[in-house]
Amino acid sequence: MDHLTVVTHPLVQHKLTLMREAETPTAVFRQLLREISQLLAYEVTRELPMEQKRIETPLAPMDAPVLAGRKLALVSILRAGNGLLDGILELVPSARVGFIGLYRDEKTLQPVEYYFKVPELLGERLVITVDPMLATGNSSAAAVTKLKEAGAKNIRFLCLLAAPEGIARMKEAHPDVPIVTAAVDEKLNEKGYIMPGLGDAGDRMYGTK
Ligand code: URA
Repeated sequence: MDHLTVVTHPLVQHKLTLMREAETPTAVFRQLLREISQLLAYEVTRELPMEQKRIETPLAPMDAPVLAGRKLALVSILRAGNGLLDGILELVPSARVGFIGLYRDEKTLQPVEYYFKVPELLGERLVITVDPMLATGNSSAAAVTKLKEAGAKNIRFLCLLAAPEGIARMKEAHPDVPIVTAAVDEKLNEKGYIMPGLGDAGDRMYGTK
């Protein structure tokens, strides 16, 4: 896969515009995120390896394609990652699931891990890391570093919106990790929010402020 894939499909772009609008209510935002996550998942899993399986249809035997190898691992970066995770799990219900919790230390401004739980045999799975907003890229890069330390070798990063700064940070830290996103916005503001963006994804998803 290319290092950066922007999913320009009209359905994705239309839903993203609705999500960006400040007046979109929490329940609608969450539903749109679920729908968009499935369209993005379609793209991020496009090149999964396949194998042939012998089956019997009601009419005849045939060799039919099925996914090869171990089940996918989806890893959500808490808390906003869970919005993408829920939708993808509807599409790939047998995927294994991990969670990474990180917060930013106020003094050092570096991400600090507070939770890490991932499926076993990570090195034998495609690991799709999900977080709606790739902003500075610091926590995303730290999360991917942790996954590599846990054995992951084949990692992809799926987000809804990315800032050029976050893409550059990820490319520098993890050039082997393809990024799939619905859009690349203009820049970060002084508080690290993506502009024009959609605001705080976690707050909009869960109705917190
Ligand atoms: N996280 C968010 O939720 N929104 C941004 O714009 C940046 C980081």
